[in-house]
Amino acid sequence: MKRQVTKKAWAGRFTEAPNPLMEAFTSSLAFDRRLAPYDIRGSIAHCRMLVKQKILSRTEGEKIVKGLESVQREWAQGRFPFLPADEDIHMAIERRLTEKIGPVGGKLHTARSRNDQVLLDVRLYLRDEITFIQQLLSALQKQLARLAKRYSEVVMPGYTHLQRAQPVLLAHHLLAYYEMLSRDQQRLQQCGERVNVLPLGAGALAGTTLPIDRHHVAKLLGFPRVSENSLDTVADRDFLVEFLSVCAILSMHLSRLAEELVLWSSSEFGFIELPDAFATGSSMMPQKKNPDVPELIRGKTGRVYGNLFALLTVLKGLPLSYNRDLQEDKEPLFDTIDTVKGVLRVLEAMLPQLVFRQDRLRAAALGGFTLATDVADYLVEKGLPFRKAHEVVGAVVRWCLAEKKGLEELSQEEWQRFSPLFEQDLFPRLTLESAVDRRSSYGGTARSEVQRRLRSIKL
Ligand code: ARG
Repeated sequence: MKRQVTKKAWAGRFTEAPNPLMEAFTSSLAFDRRLAPYDIRGSIAHCRMLVKQKILSRTEGEKIVKGLESVQREWAQGRFPFLPADEDIHMAIERRLTEKIGPVGGKLHTARSRNDQVLLDVRLYLRDEITFIQQLLSALQKQLARLAKRYSEVVMPGYTHLQRAQPVLLAHHLLAYYEMLSRDQQRLQQCGERVNVLPLGAGALAGTTLPIDRHHVAKLLGFPRVSENSLDTVADRDFLVEFLSVCAILSMHLSRLAEELVLWSSSEFGFIELPDAFATGSSMMPQKKNPDVPELIRGKTGRVYGNLFALLTVLKGLPLSYNRDLQEDKEPLFDTIDTVKGVLRVLEAMLPQLVFRQDRLRAAALGGFTLATDVADYLVEKGLPFRKAHEVVGAVVRWCLAEKKGLEELSQEEWQRFSPLFEQDLFPRLTLESAVDRRSSYGGTARSEVQRRLRSIKL
């Protein structure tokens, strides 16, 4: 009796019952169940096409669609009854459909294979997830731009080699991340175009002898294109590799931002105060406030990279066309989607609550001789070759280090010991505001440039 209920769709050829270990090992149900709503939607479109092509009768088609709709309701209400013998979500749904409407349910799989069906489900699912991730990313970009606007006058040290280099606007630094995320948006968009191709109708690998209309299914499901080669269609996972790469790059960007938040919140930098609601304490050291959120954002990048490599490795030795190895595409995909969405959500919520300590930023920007390039540029304007100017200012810095003085503390007489070209008009140059605002080359850190960029961003 039990065997009757759990009979496999492919049991016809077999004389022995499946080994439970084999069933557990090959099952994908534990993770592919999230595809259920897409599987049902795809099946309804497939069934409508079969009716239009007179492969199924109108009555059969109606029964199947009604049955699928009722399975969808069960799913949405969390009442879908899984069985241990369900091999994957596609089999589970078809099994449930047949329980509900009888043997006519067996006609749904006409002119289709799970090989093209699983791709349809994944493409429909990923298409939605990409849109969702794009929205989360836009929201995060908006928060970055708002923060830039809020702190639009604040100066901080810009770094190279993690050594103080030249003063920049905090807004300029924040908008650097905005630009990275804009490229991530473009990549998601372009990747989405290659996801948006109908695979159904490729059959198991070679197409089908039945008179299907793939373009009709594409229209019903909103796919602008239909795949060209059935073998390629069931073997191809490029669109997933591409998506995982795009997410790896995005995660790398977010990890760099996270790393800066970790550094900036340390007492050594003291540039930011993390909101209490997004920090954690130590169970042992009462004084601690730890940046666990940015640390985990940085840490989770590891699994996003790993997922990309897992999939590339699964694919590298596969002969055409479908191989069961390809079932291993799903966990890396789902894990990356969940991880990236989690990271984007928490960052978007945390950013507006960051408090920047303007006094600390300013003090750090003044230290470290960050105006040295400005002094060299001054000498260049007075006609000195840049190499020579560099040398002169190098000597000034060396002297200041010995005397424990900052550049802005030197008198004109002291300056003139290094070059007669130093005159009174040097002094107005030796402020952070002047150093920032004079860097007004396109895309530079000058307030005028940063304001121009901010104006082009919708807030
Ligand atoms: N669960 C399978 C997967 O994700 C569905 C396709 C099964 N096809 C097959 N020929 N066994 O790849």
